[in-house]
Amino acid sequence: MRSLLLLATAAAALRPQPAPRTTTKLRAAAAPPDEIARRRNFAIISHPDAGKTTLTEKLLLYGDAIQQAGMVKARANGRDSTSDFLAMEKERGISISSTCLTFEYGGARINLMDTPGHADFSEDTYRTLSAADNAVMLVDGGKGLEPQTRKLFGVARRSNLPVFTFVNKLDRPAMSPWEVLDEISAEFNLETAVRTFPIGDGERFRGVYDAAKDEVWLYTRTERGKKASVERISWEDRDEISEKIGDEELDAQLEEDREMIRELTPPLDDEKLKKGEMTSVYFGSAMGDQGVEPFLDEFIDLGSRPASRPLRDDKTLEPSHSEFAGFVFKMQANLDPKHRDCMAYVRVVSGTFRKGMKVIHGRTGRSLTLATATMLFGSDRDGVEEAFPGDVIGLNNPAGGLFQIGDALHTGSSVAFEPIPSFSPEVFGYLRPTEVGASRKSFAKGVDQLLAEGAVQRLKERGNDGPDPLLAAVGELQFEVVVDRMQGEYGVSCAVERVSYTIARWCRPELPADEAWAAVDAAKKEGALTGAFYAEDMFGRPVLLFRNAYTVERLENDADLDLGLQPWALPPATAP
Ligand code: G4P
Repeated sequence: MRSLLLLATAAAALRPQPAPRTTTKLRAAAAPPDEIARRRNFAIISHPDAGKTTLTEKLLLYGDAIQQAGMVKARANGRDSTSDFLAMEKERGISISSTCLTFEYGGARINLMDTPGHADFSEDTYRTLSAADNAVMLVDGGKGLEPQTRKLFGVARRSNLPVFTFVNKLDRPAMSPWEVLDEISAEFNLETAVRTFPIGDGERFRGVYDAAKDEVWLYTRTERGKKASVERISWEDRDEISEKIGDEELDAQLEEDREMIRELTPPLDDEKLKKGEMTSVYFGSAMGDQGVEPFLDEFIDLGSRPASRPLRDDKTLEPSHSEFAGFVFKMQANLDPKHRDCMAYVRVVSGTFRKGMKVIHGRTGRSLTLATATMLFGSDRDGVEEAFPGDVIGLNNPAGGLFQIGDALHTGSSVAFEPIPSFSPEVFGYLRPTEVGASRKSFAKGVDQLLAEGAVQRLKERGNDGPDPLLAAVGELQFEVVVDRMQGEYGVSCAVERVSYTIARWCRPELPADEAWAAVDAAKKEGALTGAFYAEDMFGRPVLLFRNAYTVERLENDADLDLGLQPWALPPATAP
């Protein structure tokens, strides 16, 4: 498995850089309707090795963003800084970093948000999906649904995203396509609208039947990494199709499959697709570039346009709103280790972003001038002049300190987005330097920047003001990443000293922290919290850690205690 970040950086370097435009108008403005209408963004959900990177490469090829798939990989490998950052990712074959790639295709501007493939990173994935308008579920045609696909699908469903399914690797021996369709509808309780269907598999894979256009796409294998050469033949020219397929058995199977698709499968229902009740399904081979183009064409047609976002007061913010607004959904430190930077990724929800404009930082009320913004792999690599709803911009987060995940940025009157929920942490431990004389300054800086990314949460033991943070994560691997990156990026060798608690519960997080602590202290006085560990989150709110589910259940069911225990807590609307 390779990294989209490598692709992004290397591919950006291959593109001609346009001369920067000088922007004079910095006042808030609505986004031009045609710019909103042509934006499509999506996140890919898949099990590791299903072919996410390969598919992305092929999509970039269609966007004329790269000249040859694989070329970017070769080029990227020559760039030390990029490969250093990804050392652990490469070594372990998992995708840790997330990024957003942008390319133009068929008049549309496509933003592809990368989602990490490992189970331990589901929280990060959740946030990325929360910023996307569509999901593409990539399935290995030889294996069908796999654990991580199932888990991520669950997340996409909670976000009510339209799901497009691409069944990959048909150039290898594959499961029966009907079996894959059955699996999807049975496991996910999801209707499947067949849009393309494979003609053969493995060595005999010839192309796809396009059910929407009633035509076939027949491919001739080309050099790896290049666009495949294709012949599209309408079903009306039936004899020509048979002749070109040149395999009686395959041809008969195609006839039968077409019949079944038309008679037995539901037609595409746009409304159901948008609500996530139906998935449109495509088959192909990302590696051989077979079936990718019909999928991309349909995605441009059917994919959801930038959607409105829910606000805290039960209202929604429309992309056409006349003021700029966006929210931070992801943080990433040391994208370029030479600069020790930390990037906050902002999903633009409404209005026009213009370089140099003044915005309000919702949580602190501070006025900020957004002098520089980056769009990875945008048309201007070094800076974004303008961005519109559906785009993702990267803002520098000075010393990792200004932005937090969920923060709103806006012009005009105040905007508070529905916060992004998080997962309940299940592993806890103190992060400590392992060498005597380690630089406390580097340690503190590393901790601040890495924890600002939000992959692990920082808690503090009540009454313990020691310098070593108590980390809370959904999975063990997140600790390993922090330890690895502390060493690799900040030069501080660290270890996590685990504490043996497995369940976290916030107590009355909706209350001001002192009132919530008063509820905890009252319960403690009554002897109800024996064995609990008292911690506070970054907002000073009480978090109780437990060893067993039984105690938690008992406390949750005890109406007299009124502890209001919750497995996770949304950040408060305003700064504490
Ligand atoms: P990921 O990002 O989802 O983890 O998957 P990635 O694209 O890295 O693909 C994983 C492996 O599957 C790669 O093989 C890749 O070449 C292969 N693959 C992806 N799509 C297809 C396809 O449509 N058909 C076939 N036959 N293989 C496919 P690898 O051996 O790990 O890497 P490489 O040596 O090919 O680069």
